[in-house]
Amino acid sequence: MTRLLDRALDRSVVLGYSKVGSALRRRWWPADPEPGALAGKRVLVTGATSGIGEAMARSFADLGASVHVLGRNGDKLAEVARQLRLDKPATEVVEEVCDVGDLDAVRGWAADFTGRVPALHGLVHNAGTMTEKREESPQGHELGLAVHVLGPHVMSELLHNPLAAAGGASVVWMSSGGMYSARLPADVDGYESRGVDKGGYNGVRAYARTKRMQVVIADAWARRLAAQDVRVESMHPGWVGTPGVATHLPTFNMITKPVLRDSEDGADTAVWLVATRPSSEPPHFWHDRAQRPVTMGRRGGPDPVDVRRFLLWVSETTSTPATW
Ligand SMILES: NC(=O)c1ccc[n+]([C@@H]2O[C@H](COP(=O)([O-])OP(=O)(O)OC[C@H]3O[C@@H](n4cnc5c(N)ncnc54)[C@H](OP(=O)(O)O)[C@@H]3O)[C@@H](O)[C@H]2O)c1
Repeated sequence: MTRLLDRALDRSVVLGYSKVGSALRRRWWPADPEPGALAGKRVLVTGATSGIGEAMARSFADLGASVHVLGRNGDKLAEVARQLRLDKPATEVVEEVCDVGDLDAVRGWAADFTGRVPALHGLVHNAGTMTEKREESPQGHELGLAVHVLGPHVMSELLHNPLAAAGGASVVWMSSGGMYSARLPADVDGYESRGVDKGGYNGVRAYARTKRMQVVIADAWARRLAAQDVRVESMHPGWVGTPGVATHLPTFNMITKPVLRDSEDGADTAVWLVATRPSSEPPHFWHDRAQRPVTMGRRGGPDPVDVRRFLLWVSETTSTPATW
């Protein structure tokens, strides 16, 4: 009965993604992590200066973790860290300044991080962006592609040793329900959102494409790291009232405001995944503490040829090993 209701919520989208969905599912979803579940463990949250990432850092602190908060703006990050230390004096909070969309910055930061941190138990690729006009990263990639896919990919690659050394780590890619509207592109113009939208660049469509790419690459990373007991998942948080939504989707924010989840609710599944490490089947996509399909309706999953082409392109363009 609950399975049917759960599925009906998912298919309805509005009910499932809003705070109604989590309020109902809370009655039957798996148990919360034990208190202190992350004591003695280290987690890193990207995009921790706002919304879901900031809430996630607090929830990880509540479970006893040492929390590395990563942001691109040093002043904003210092303020978030100051508040977190004030509210959770027992928590070790470490500030990590890095622009995830700048691959050189990620490489420089990762070299420093791996010199300081021998073992990392949780990594959440949460940083996210949406732009009205097509913008490019310092390396000339479409900005959403750089922030959501290429930066996190390079970070996963370079943090491989501390993740493997944890003896049971989890990596979570924060995707979006918006990815259901997008297919995995079949070529580089699609990845880079160049000339693929009729009438010019469409920020919402470009965002959805990169969020689809996150689900695909997370599944590939899950295979790649399984032998080191590093679990890799992707998820969507539902509709969450955050500064990001208010800024980038003002009309959506205005219409859905009464039913938007709060940031803690949006962070819940990522925190639960890292703290409980549930067993997980490919393609490892989650929402509200349950695995979900990666396509809706009769649309099939991505073509394996497109998946392979995409993964090889990511490796080539980031100069990382193509060991898929
Ligand atoms: N809210 C929702 O309903 C919703 C739904 C589906 C998916 N999501 C996903 O959830 C994640 C968090 O979103 P949110 O709603 O909490 O948005 P938000 O309030 O805008 O927070 C986004 C965070 O990402 C950071 N960020 C952006 N670009 C970055 C970069 N280049 N390097 C480092 N950090 C960067 C931002 O830093 P600054 O503070 O410096 O801007 C901020 O901390 C995103 O991946 C988003 O796609 C959200």
